[in-house]
Amino acid sequence: MAKILITQHIGEAGVQKLREAGHEVTYRDETEPMTLAELQTAVRYTEGLVCLLTDKVDTAVLDAAPHLKMIANVAVGYDNIDVGVASKRGILVSNTPDVLTETTADHAFALLLAIARRVPEADAFMRAGSYEKFEMFPPLLGLDVYGKTLGVVGMGRIGAAVARRGALGFGMKVLYTANGVKTAVEQELSAQKATLPELLRQSDFVSINVPLTPETHHLFTLETFRQMKPTACLINTARGPVIKEDDLLVALREGIIWGAALDVFEAEPKMAPGLAEYHERLVVAPHLGSATGETRQKMVETAVTNLLAGLAGQPPPNALNAEQLP
Ligand code: GLV
Repeated sequence: MAKILITQHIGEAGVQKLREAGHEVTYRDETEPMTLAELQTAVRYTEGLVCLLTDKVDTAVLDAAPHLKMIANVAVGYDNIDVGVASKRGILVSNTPDVLTETTADHAFALLLAIARRVPEADAFMRAGSYEKFEMFPPLLGLDVYGKTLGVVGMGRIGAAVARRGALGFGMKVLYTANGVKTAVEQELSAQKATLPELLRQSDFVSINVPLTPETHHLFTLETFRQMKPTACLINTARGPVIKEDDLLVALREGIIWGAALDVFEAEPKMAPGLAEYHERLVVAPHLGSATGETRQKMVETAVTNLLAGLAGQPPPNALNAEQLP
């Protein structure tokens, strides 16, 4: 039996499963993350931690958790956890890949279509009573998607799922950046690996699918936007700080790029003030990539399965650092 802390609301099913396995579970059924001081106090006797991407688990928290054996993040991204420090202390860390891949790619495509065809602007136009006459060239002319070039920055699981939708569903030519050549994707989708500048120069739609790391932080700045086509759209369903938001605003205002669709933000949950007030050619959503009931439930189940395995001394199926532990 281990002492488990669940930092935020994850629903009863996951909590039950951990309790049924005989663990002593402290469930903080709230939808706000704890402050650092609260989290430090809460983890004092914790052996198993279930956390969300809004819980920052860094050295300050790990220092306060001398009994911690395993952290199960209920997210595929794990930039909120200092995995390096956890590894040095023999703490296993797991994430929830696979179960959210297709759902997140669906959302990326929903945003891509929404920005290209100006769906939110059209919705607002109708509701404002502005539709008075059919016009051959209406004010809300959009962009074609079918047959255009899709640049996928980061060809991991989600990037590949976005690429598949583009190539197979919308006849798009796919360019991508990745560490190493993704032979299977190249064969299946006739995708071509490119350098980032090449991808930016050629793509009509650029989808960001990289994890947030020191290398990808502010990968997109004014300099990057200047390499894109003025008719191109940027879609970000990865992590906000990959884009320098102030620069994106300049790029949109000055027409350096055509539009952007963002699911994630640099200082989430806030948007850069200028960006929040900018309505044209910008589609925004509150980090909903994996947010369907079914998928969020599967993420919780995955995190619980990982934690139960780790605490039982078995390899968690989605351990991120099993090889790095001392
Ligand atoms: C969501 O952003 C996730 O990383 O799961």
